[in-house]
Amino acid sequence: MCGIVGYVGPNADDKALGVVMEGLARLEYRGYDSAGVALVADGEVVGDKKAGKLENLRAALEARDLPPSATAIGHTRWATHGGPTDANAHPHRGGTDNKLAVVHNGIIENFHALKNELLEQGVEFRSETDTEVSAHLVARAFEEAGDLTEAMRQVVNRLEGAFTLLAVHADAPDTVVAARRNSPLVVGLGEGENFLGSDVAAFIGYTRNALELAQDQIVTITPTSHEVINFDGSPAEGKAYEVTWDAAAAEKGGYDTFMEKEIHDQPHAVRDTLLGRTDETGRLVLDELRISEEQLSGINRIYVVACGTAAYAGMTAKYAIEHWTRIPVEVSLAHEFRYCDPIVDERTLVVSISQSGETMDTLMAVKHANELGALTISICNTHGSTIPRESDAVLYTHAGPEIAVASTKAFVAQITACYVLGLYLSQLRGKQYADDAKNVMAELAEIPEKIETLLGSMDRVAEIARFMADSRAVLFLGRNVGYPIALEGALKLKELAYIHAEGFAAGELKHGPIALIEPGQPVFVIVPGPDTPHDLHKKVVSNIQEIRARGARTLVIAEEGDEDVVAFADEVIRVPQAPPLLEPLLTVIPLQVFALHLATAKGLDVDQPRNLAKSVTVE
Ligand code: F6R
Repeated sequence: MCGIVGYVGPNADDKALGVVMEGLARLEYRGYDSAGVALVADGEVVGDKKAGKLENLRAALEARDLPPSATAIGHTRWATHGGPTDANAHPHRGGTDNKLAVVHNGIIENFHALKNELLEQGVEFRSETDTEVSAHLVARAFEEAGDLTEAMRQVVNRLEGAFTLLAVHADAPDTVVAARRNSPLVVGLGEGENFLGSDVAAFIGYTRNALELAQDQIVTITPTSHEVINFDGSPAEGKAYEVTWDAAAAEKGGYDTFMEKEIHDQPHAVRDTLLGRTDETGRLVLDELRISEEQLSGINRIYVVACGTAAYAGMTAKYAIEHWTRIPVEVSLAHEFRYCDPIVDERTLVVSISQSGETMDTLMAVKHANELGALTISICNTHGSTIPRESDAVLYTHAGPEIAVASTKAFVAQITACYVLGLYLSQLRGKQYADDAKNVMAELAEIPEKIETLLGSMDRVAEIARFMADSRAVLFLGRNVGYPIALEGALKLKELAYIHAEGFAAGELKHGPIALIEPGQPVFVIVPGPDTPHDLHKKVVSNIQEIRARGARTLVIAEEGDEDVVAFADEVIRVPQAPPLLEPLLTVIPLQVFALHLATAKGLDVDQPRNLAKSVTVE
């Protein structure tokens, strides 16, 4: 939610604008309502900002003749306070001759009070944003303190809410100062140049050496130094790490869109998430998990907290974890968790799932769980992000950077990581299914190849999607682990194609939603394999008959060789055979491909759907 970039390099080099624009392009997935840059050059701060996508800013900059500069900040916005206009776009300016510029990600909750105070002192506001107060405050503090770091320090101690703030000042030409509280910020360490970004994608084209900051810290970068302090002024140090992927991983790699590329990355996402999880005897060893085996063996309840697609990964995992461990698992939308008076104590394990590691709702749920004394584990795709840092332990998914706003490869990686965790817990507890862990790991290891096969047979799904471009509503049905996949299929279609879509547990249909079925209504049905316990396969086949009898157009996702569905399906989409609990890793793929192609047929931007942002860093 909002992307921010900062750069400072050698004076002889005037590459600041190029670096910042490149960083913004890589971060545009975080928000694309407007964009802007500020450069320090010749004793002043210059730049531009424009409503709309980065292209608008690029065009505006090309029409201007900006002076060479070695210091710059940039911003791509997802609007919170104030609509997406030029005036509300960042950077915001303050001080005599507008010598200061700031960019901000997050929400300054006490901005009304601060704004009133500034208005009383005669300050004129040029935008409706919460951010602008910080520009005036830092500018004024700089005029008194004469030091940008100290000015930032004084101001952040007055701010409430969540923020990453970057500031430059004309009188501090080779410096960028940044502060963070509950909002992402990483430092990129180069040779004679340094970088700041909402995530490492901002500078991955220049350096893989990154520095993670803790909460409530300020970093000051110059071309040759970086200095970290706490908000109270005491010295601090960031945590250095090396980014394990390179710039190519954040490119489209020959595909038309990031989403298409990321759908095709899924075999890797699962394979890499499984890597290195077992020892030579086949026992699971989760080295990253900084929680003792003793503590983990004692847990008697699991909560999964997550939002959106990540929550559906959690819902899928619930079936598997309960089956393998016999520990009750409750899945709570992270933004509901804090307010439902959850039954949590030191024997509760709270597992958060987040691709970005920055989702504010999920972060707040984790903090609440910590306060209640729970053990917290983060399943996360982004190194150096906030949620893993706030958790007792982390299990990283290794999906690589996910740039398209709609989550695809992170989802399969999240399910995979949850399954690994479930199997590990079952192994620790030595319970009834412990011996099966090895077998399930072997079955999981076969999934990447099955996804590859499946991806090779998606032409018909793409064709169906194109035929259906004018659909007004699409329904999705599933049972057991197929139910969260139905929800995920519907979410993908809503967010990408702006079509009304709903997912139901197939058994629930007769309790009301079947009234929606009218002749021609398209319904996807995810059919469990014939080996699924409790005759679920037969029951879902009956559900297909029920809706077909009422005129539904049935689009059936079924295992290779399942002939029972053929008589009742208008279309059969085949997936490779897999054990029932692992089917979601396959059945979700055609639904992703369907949403991608339907949205593309409608001429929509699948990487950056309207109103959304990749990383939702506000509550
Ligand atoms: C949907 C989607 C969102 C995210 C949700 C959580 O395609 O991407 O629903 O899954 O906003 O985001 P993370 O996983 O970053 O916490």
